[in-house]
Amino acid sequence: MTVFDTAVMTMPKAIRPSGINGTKNDAYLYDMVSIQKGLPPDLMRSASELVLSALWEKFVPILGDDSRAIEAVASSIAVSNCFCALEKSALVGLLALQTQDQNFLNFGFNDLYTRYGLWRAVVKGMALHFLQHKPRHGELYVEGVAVIDAARGKGVGTQLFDVLMNFARAQNYKIISLEVIDTNIRALHLYERLGFRIKKRTPLWPANKLIGWPFKESILMAYAIN
Ligand SMILES: CC(C)(COP(=O)(O)OP(=O)(O)OC[C@H]1O[C@@H](n2cnc3c(N)ncnc32)[C@H](O)[C@@H]1OP(=O)(O)O)[C@@H](O)C(=O)NCCC(=O)NCCS
Repeated sequence: MTVFDTAVMTMPKAIRPSGINGTKNDAYLYDMVSIQKGLPPDLMRSASELVLSALWEKFVPILGDDSRAIEAVASSIAVSNCFCALEKSALVGLLALQTQDQNFLNFGFNDLYTRYGLWRAVVKGMALHFLQHKPRHGELYVEGVAVIDAARGKGVGTQLFDVLMNFARAQNYKIISLEVIDTNIRALHLYERLGFRIKKRTPLWPANKLIGWPFKESILMAYAIN
């Protein structure tokens, strides 16, 4: 167990919702958000719901948004392959990791087959395969990052990346990489502000048309660790 397996950062109450009257954010009061490596197993369903709601453009066209999708994602989670942001014991943010050994989401064909039947499992498995990235030696790949709607724009995402960068440095990774879709301009700006640089743009046609993705391009970004 490393220091990163326990709580590694506690964010003070500086991240207050910014709205004033009656907005959704106002209802959300932060006491403390702590960032830890690994997802408590009792939060797998919350993590699945967060993935499907925040990253819906990628996953909902493939898996749908019903309880089957929530269960398929939840059962595919490798709890150790992420950092999560917790407010008390509730999940407010998640940064999923892919290493050479394991993904955060590991969809097995048998599981898809049991839930969706043979042909749908084949099609969904192929579409999910499109989201895979095989990290090279020394590369830590961010499979996805998501913060609950009410907590966005308050620094939770930045804190998740701060902890990730310290972790990657301590573990002697050379590079952190991630992919962002062309329509997600705000996330792209966030990554550029954090020091990520665009490495490659991959057009997704015709897969995007076949799968029903509302985006056209995947942008690979990388952060060099010094
Ligand atoms: C992208 C995301 C993880 C950032 O987390 P966050 O906690 O909102 O990030 P922070 O508060 O640390 O930083 C906010 C920055 O992200 C940008 N941002 C991106 N999406 C945003 C959103 N939906 N709401 C508010 N800010 C957002 C803001 O422009 C801001 O940039 P700035 O600080 O330079 O002004 C979060 O907004 C989210 O979950 N979005 C939906 C899922 C998603 O797009 N994930 C990325 C897939 S590659």
